[in-house]
Amino acid sequence: MAQEDVFKKIVSHCKEYGFIFPSSEIYDGLAAVYDYGQNGVELKNNIKKYWWDSMVLLHENIVGIDSSIFMHPTIWKASGHVDAFNDPLIDNRDSKKRYRADNLIEDKIAKYDEKIQKEVDKAKKRFGDAFDEAKYRTTSPRVVEEQKKRDALHERYTKAMQGPDLKELKQIILDEGIVDPISGTKNWTDVRQFNLMFKTEVGSTADGASTIYLRPETAQGIFVNYLNVQKTGRMKLPFGIAQIGKAFRNEIVARQFIFRMREFEQMEMQFFVKPGTEKEWFERWKQIRMKWHQALGFGAENYRFHDHEKLAHYANAATDIEFLMPFGFKEVEGIHSRTDYDLKQHEKFSGHQIKYFDPETKESYTPYDIETSIGVDRMVLSVLCHSFCEENLENGETRTVLRIPPQLAPIKLAVMPLVKKDGLAEKAQDIVRNLRFHFTTKYDEKDSIGKRYRRQDAIGTPFCVTVDYDTLQDDSVTLRLRDTMEQKRVKIAELQSLIEDQVSITSLLKKLD
Ligand code: GAP
Repeated sequence: MAQEDVFKKIVSHCKEYGFIFPSSEIYDGLAAVYDYGQNGVELKNNIKKYWWDSMVLLHENIVGIDSSIFMHPTIWKASGHVDAFNDPLIDNRDSKKRYRADNLIEDKIAKYDEKIQKEVDKAKKRFGDAFDEAKYRTTSPRVVEEQKKRDALHERYTKAMQGPDLKELKQIILDEGIVDPISGTKNWTDVRQFNLMFKTEVGSTADGASTIYLRPETAQGIFVNYLNVQKTGRMKLPFGIAQIGKAFRNEIVARQFIFRMREFEQMEMQFFVKPGTEKEWFERWKQIRMKWHQALGFGAENYRFHDHEKLAHYANAATDIEFLMPFGFKEVEGIHSRTDYDLKQHEKFSGHQIKYFDPETKESYTPYDIETSIGVDRMVLSVLCHSFCEENLENGETRTVLRIPPQLAPIKLAVMPLVKKDGLAEKAQDIVRNLRFHFTTKYDEKDSIGKRYRRQDAIGTPFCVTVDYDTLQDDSVTLRLRDTMEQKRVKIAELQSLIEDQVSITSLLKKLD
C-alpha cells in the first residue's frame, strides 16, 4: 500500500479510537489545530513523563520550570522573533493559494532526489547482485546529469535563504518551472516575509492596552529565568533548565496532520556551559538525545541526524534528529549550540546583568547554551506511525494493532469478564480496583471476548486479562499478550509483578543510565 494511504489510515484511526480529533469539529474544525482524546492524552502524558524524568530525574544538574505563555513583549524583540521570525510567502494569482517559497523549492529538490533514486532502483533490479551503486551514481549519464541539476539548485537555494534574498527565491521558482499544484500555472506574486507570531492585547484600550505575543517557543521563558534559577538553586555550571509547554506559530502551510500545527507543545532544555566547552557538550547532547529516541525500540535505521548547513545567526552548530515517517525522514527534535546570544540579548534589552560567577576561576562571564528542543506532538505522531500495523492472521481474519511501546501505551491492562453474570464481573472489577494504583487498568465487559481483544489491540493495550469460571475456583486468569496474541494462565496475585516492570517509564529510563 502506498505510504500516503497508510498515513490516511493512521489519521482516521486516531479519530476513530479516541487519540486525536480535529479541533472544534462540530463547527467544521479549525485548520491546523487538533484536540487529544481520551487515549491520545494518555499517550502524550506518558511521552512527556519519559522526557521529563530523563532530564530532571536522571541528571542531578538539570531542574525544571514552568514559565507563562504571556511574556513581556520586549523579550521577543531581544530574541529576534519580532524582526526575524518570518516565513517567505508567495501567492499564486490563479488559484489564490498561498505557499511557502522555501517549501516549493525544497519539494523540487526532493523531486530530483526521487528521480535519481528511481534510476538507481531500476538499475539495481537489472544488474542484481553485481550492482555497484556508488559506481553507478558517478557513471550513469542520466543520474550524473540529474545530480548536477539538484546540487546546483540546492546551492542556489541555500544561498538565497541566507539573506534571505526574496527576489532570488522568486527567480529560482520561475527558473525551475515550479507550477502551482492546484492551478498548474506559474502566475506567481513576489515573495514577501510573514511573521509567525500570534499577537493579542493585554489590558483594556482605555488603560492603554499593549500588544503581546503568544510565545512561539518555550525557550525564552527559560532564558529570562536563568538568573532566578541559578541563584535560588545555587546551580553551578554546567547545569540545565527543562520546560514543557505550549507554543504558538501562525504557520501558513500547516501540513501532515499534527506534524505542523498552529498550537503545539514543546519539551525544551537549555544546558548552560562554560564558553569554549560548548562543542563538546553539543556532541554529548546529540548522543544523549539519540539514545533517548532509540530506547523506544523503533530501530536505529529509522533515525538520522541532519546537520544544518545554514546556521541561524546565534548558533555555532545545529542538527535535527529526523525520524522516518510515512512521508519521509522528518525533523522531530532540534539540538542547537546557541552560544551566549540569548542571555546577552536579554542583558542588553533588560539592562540587568546576566552573568555567572565562576567560583573556580573567580571570573564572571555569560554562559554558552546548548538547547535540545523536541515537539511533543511530533513525538506522538512518530509513535503512532511506527506502531500502526494491519496484520493478516492465520485464521484468515485481519487485525489492526498499535504496537506502542508498553511504557507509553495509554492503557496497560484491560480486565474482561467472560460473561457479566455469576460473579465474574465482580471478580474482574476487584482485579481492576487493586491494580489501578500501579498502572492504568480498565474494565471492559461489552461484546464478545474476540471483539474486546481487537478493540484493545486497536488502542495499543499491551495486556488483557480474562476472568472465567475457573477463576472463581483457583484465582487464576488468562493473560493475553497484544503483540504475539499468546495466552497463558497466571495467578491473579502474580499479575502486578508480571506487568508492572514492563509498562513503567522506569524500565525505559534504565536503558538510558
Ligand atoms: N527553541 C528552538 C525551537 O523552537 P524549532 O526547530 O523551531 O526550534 C523545535 O522547534 C521543535 O518543535 C521541532 O523540532 C518540532 O518538533 C517542534 N515544532 C516546531 N514547530 C512546530 C509546529 N508548527 N507544529 C508542531 N511541532 C512543531
